[in-house]
Amino acid sequence: MAKLIYSAIASLDGYVADEEGNFDWAIPDEEVLAFINDLEEPVGTYLYGRRLYEVMVGWETDPTLADRSPLMRDFAQIWQAADKIVYSKTLEAVSTARTRIERDFDPEAVRQMKARDGRDLLVGGPELAAQVFKAWLVDECHLFVAPMVVGGGKRSLPNNVRLKLELLDERRFGSGMVYLYYRTKRTR
Ligand SMILES: NC(=O)c1ccc[n+]([C@@H]2O[C@H](COP(=O)([O-])OP(=O)(O)OC[C@H]3O[C@@H](n4cnc5c(N)ncnc54)[C@H](OP(=O)(O)O)[C@@H]3O)[C@@H](O)[C@H]2O)c1
Repeated sequence: MAKLIYSAIASLDGYVADEEGNFDWAIPDEEVLAFINDLEEPVGTYLYGRRLYEVMVGWETDPTLADRSPLMRDFAQIWQAADKIVYSKTLEAVSTARTRIERDFDPEAVRQMKARDGRDLLVGGPELAAQVFKAWLVDECHLFVAPMVVGGGKRSLPNNVRLKLELLDERRFGSGMVYLYYRTKRTR
């Protein structure tokens, strides 16, 4: 059975973007990116909210991104090789390969993907992830905590979700970013 992983890079106070929508303080440096590449290489399918997808498409549509460093090239290759499902009621077409649009989030369809797929799934975009948490479908969290307090913005974790977490691993990076790897435990 495949695992469903929620992954996010957030400020210490728990936001993926500040009130102006900026997240430049969350951009991984080369040390963190090397680590992310190892984590995401086994991922078979990304489940994206439309807003995060619109940021990530550059890894396929903007060749200058991959040209910036060998590690960025590796990430672009990993990203392009995986399947993507974009949840959106408004997006008319996708601009990347191996990508399809879902108009609604159907928990049962995701449950079936987990049962069927040989490779892990990764969900990104907190609005979409909130629904995946509420359907009790998240098995693990890969949370990167940036050394920033931004005071408000887009929360990385949803309200009204209560989860017990088992810390499986942690890592600190030279930039001050910290990685926390949790398994979720259902409490209800
Ligand atoms: N910290 C970082 O490293 C980092 C990296 C990249 C981006 N970001 C930021 O993270 C934020 C993205 O998070 P977000 O929570 O705003 O957005 P998100 O979850 O990525 O996307 C939200 C959108 O997904 C679609 N969606 C959600 N639930 C749906 C459902 N049940 N059925 C159909 N469509 C559904 C809707 O698209 P439609 O409106 O099209 O229907 C909704 O507007 C942005 O502010 C982005 O700039 C942060």
